[in-house]
This record gives sequence, structure tokens and C-alpha cells, in this order.
Amino acid sequence: MTTSPPSGRLALYPGSFDPLTNGHVDIILRGAQLFDRILVAVLVNEDKKPLFSADERVDLVREVFREYPNVEVDTFNGLLVDYARRRRATAIVRGLRAVSDFEYEFQMALMNRHLEPTLETVFMMPAEQYTYLSSRLIKEVFSLGGDVRGLVPPTVEARLRAKKDRPGV
Ligand code: PNS
Repeated sequence: MTTSPPSGRLALYPGSFDPLTNGHVDIILRGAQLFDRILVAVLVNEDKKPLFSADERVDLVREVFREYPNVEVDTFNGLLVDYARRRRATAIVRGLRAVSDFEYEFQMALMNRHLEPTLETVFMMPAEQYTYLSSRLIKEVFSLGGDVRGLVPPTVEARLRAKKDRPGV
């Protein structure tokens, strides 16, 4: 029996995801309804010294979406458009939280379009309660003893806690 490659429209949802927040989860779920498949593309940005390694970030996404067959996860480095071409993606999904996101996102979308005119960027808004959320703030609040329950998936909270208790693990 031959297995055919997965079909349908594939959207990439690229980012650092250090770590995955409920804002990201919200966007992934929306994307999974709009496209046949959504691929969470985790940037391998070791020189930015992420809190979670690329493998840990992938594991967290995989764990949260293990019951969603059309949500996939992978790492990438280099140019996003090159990766999108290799994966035959038709769109890039990005979340827009507030007007302050717009300028950076607009620049990236147009640069990506310049590099690959056939690749469309689709912006999605998360639910209102997540508009102030960012991975950077989660890390800061958590490291200072703040409560991040309800802002990240429980498995992410557990991993944050484990890292705090056992730094370097
Ligand atoms: O979660 P982030 O950090 O806002 O995600 C940014 C990301 C990963 C989407 C962006 O930095 C990216 O696409 N990097 C890959 C390198 C690249 O293609 N750069 C040109 C973008 S116009």
C-alpha cells in the first residue's frame, strides 16, 4: 500500500513560542478551523538564549495539541519563506494583539511577500482576554513569583515550575 502525502491547504504559524501561551493556543485553534492543516513552526533561535530549548518548545506544542490531528509542529531556521516553500505552505498565520504589533507585522508580511509573492500572510486576532499576553511577560511575571495560571496551558506552567525548581534541567 502506498501512502500519499498529507493534502489540503497548509498554513504555517511561525514564532519563537518561548513558551507557548494561551494566546498562541487561541490562534492555533482558529487557524486549525480555517485551514486543512496548521503547522506550528518553532524558530531555532539559540543565540537569543531562549528559556526553553527548541526541542522543549516542540514537545510542549505537541503535548497541548496531541488530540488535534490537523495541528503539526516542527522547528525551522533560516528564512521563513524558504521553509514555507519546502513545506509547500500556502499561508503564514500571525496573531495581531494590538495596534503596537502592527508595524512590525506589516514589515514582515511585506518583506515575506517580496521574497515569495505566492505566500499570503493571514492575521488573526486572539480572544480579547489574551490581547495583553506575551511570552516575554509570562517569563518575567513567573520568574518574579507572579501567578500565570490561565495564561499558559497547565503543562507549560508545570514546565516553568520545574525549571525554576531545577535550573538547567
Ligand atoms: O514569535 P516571534 O519571535 O515574534 O516570531 C518571529 C518570526 C519567527 C516569525 C520571525 O523572526 C521569522 O520569520 N524569522 C525567520 C527569519 C526570517 O525569515 N526573517 C525575515 C522575516 S521578514
